Amino acid sequence: MPFTDDFLERIKDSNDITSVVSSYVSTKRAGHDSVCLCPFHSEKTPSCHIYSDTQSFYCFGCGAGGSVIQFIMLMEHLDFQESVRFLAQRAGIAMPEDSYDRTADTKQRLLEINREAARFYRDILISEKGAEGWNYLRGRGLSENTIRKYGLGYAPDDWSTLKDHMTAKGYGEQELLDAALLSRSQKGNTYDKFRHRVMFPIIDRRGNIIAFGGRTLEPDAPAKYLNSDETLVFHKRSSLFSLNFAKNTKEKYLILCEGYMDVISLNQAGFDSAVATLGTAITPEQARLMRQYCEEVVISYDSDGAGQKATMKAINLLADAGVEARVLQMSGAKDPDEYIQKYGADGFRMLIQQSGGAISFELQKLSQGLDMDTPEGRASYLKKAVDLLADVDNRIDRLVYVSDTAKLCGMSSAEIEKAVDERRRFKSYNAKKQERRDLINPPVRSSRNDMNALSQTAEQKAERGIIAFMFHSPDMLSRVEDKLAPEDFPTESYRNMYNIVANRIKNGSSLDLSSIGDEFSAQDVGRITGIINENNLLPYQKERLNEYIRVLEKHRDRYRGKKPEEMTNDDLLQQMEKLRREKSKK
Ligand code: UTP
Ligand code: MN
Repeated sequence: MPFTDDFLERIKDSNDITSVVSSYVSTKRAGHDSVCLCPFHSEKTPSCHIYSDTQSFYCFGCGAGGSVIQFIMLMEHLDFQESVRFLAQRAGIAMPEDSYDRTADTKQRLLEINREAARFYRDILISEKGAEGWNYLRGRGLSENTIRKYGLGYAPDDWSTLKDHMTAKGYGEQELLDAALLSRSQKGNTYDKFRHRVMFPIIDRRGNIIAFGGRTLEPDAPAKYLNSDETLVFHKRSSLFSLNFAKNTKEKYLILCEGYMDVISLNQAGFDSAVATLGTAITPEQARLMRQYCEEVVISYDSDGAGQKATMKAINLLADAGVEARVLQMSGAKDPDEYIQKYGADGFRMLIQQSGGAISFELQKLSQGLDMDTPEGRASYLKKAVDLLADVDNRIDRLVYVSDTAKLCGMSSAEIEKAVDERRRFKSYNAKKQERRDLINPPVRSSRNDMNALSQTAEQKAERGIIAFMFHSPDMLSRVEDKLAPEDFPTESYRNMYNIVANRIKNGSSLDLSSIGDEFSAQDVGRITGIINENNLLPYQKERLNEYIRVLEKHRDRYRGKKPEEMTNDDLLQQMEKLRREKSKK
């Protein structure tokens, strides 16, 4: 059963959208409303608007928008029901009985299966059958305490150890497949997915075991690490290994590593704020998740080429999520685990202290492969450096980096500063232009809308937009009439619609969709509904209307004063119609 309107109203009323959004990203007041960097796509200038009076948000960049419920759906990767439940919990509102989440039972069951499996793997690890795993983990320097703290386990070199145990406990084959603990062979038989591996339970921040990672003990297995496939309770993109511990850290930073073993070694050495992504590059979801627990992330990836490349990507994603990134660089070891083994906790603490800002890292990377002893090398470096420095918004930071760059290139700071300022002006001009463009592009959601929007010219978009505005805010008619005559609408059918609607507004006739049927055909009413729906995805701000007007003005001015031989057929027809109208007015 869907929720009642009353209940949804209550949910929205008790979860002010501005405060909900602010708990994920930093928002800035802009007049009556607020803006933020859009959490749903990558951007450098804020284009996500939060409207407090309509309690809605809309991103001009990617088109995400809606109420606080849609925001939570996108943000927390929940479906509608779950988002409502989430917001109810946040506001301390009891859920009505009939709004029960149907997948909740299944999820609960999967979590129970995972818990039982983890217990089983752990019991094996500490038994005689687990000796190989136990010796391996101890051999890698993990204490008994650490092994217990992380709930590590062992999956024997056998096809059905887990399956036999779990089915004896009463769990069904299908459930175990759903939990991604069994795999199915081509012949249709099921078998244990994890074999001959030490097992790392992946635990979410609420303490649920949502998945497993397993490290093979085979000398040349094709995959060193194997992770659970996605399940109803495991979404790799938005999970972080060891966040269940890191979320309680007293540090103001999280340490981001590549691997399970790095995180566990760091923890054992006293760095409880370490987390790792699960065999994938960091995602925007993970960056935002970290943002909820820290102000700063120390990226501590492997020292090899792949790790350094991944560092660049992480810097950008973290910046988008509004997290300060620092980069830890080590030599003499391939990863944090190895570094700790070799140089101890104090050695690693020093690396953290020495870790520099993201910009230093990037500036340093720029010079790689360039010969800074030649003028060409320095020039090429300078060009890239200026581009990078132009993105540093904080003036003091910028000056520090400018002076570093100046030293590297043997130039004066003033010269470089001038180049950077110029570049900044250019960039902000371009950003504004893009913003204006975004303003008139309706976000396209459904594929049907997609087709519509794709086949629309800029002028048609503007015509449709203006018509929608007339229905939504009839008082804006005078703004349109000040600038445009009906014949400035290039498309005949839209021109007719506009004419009728404008007249109705002036006569005080209703614009209700059910009552315009006296002047519009049923087909036209349908088209108008489409136009209104498409435009309702965008806020009705006068800036948007102005932009539409501007598009039609530009179109008109382009064709005014053209010689007949330069005109297309459409131009000619329009021109003739204009003349006809002018004649009939006289
Ligand atoms: P690494 O290959 O750097 O492993 O992979 P590591 O942590 O140093 O492994 P050890 O020390 O030999 O045990 C880093 C991370 O990448 C993922 C795992 O999450 C691993 O922890 N990974 C790696 C996979 O998912 N699959 C693989 O085959 C390899
Ligand atoms: Mn390693």
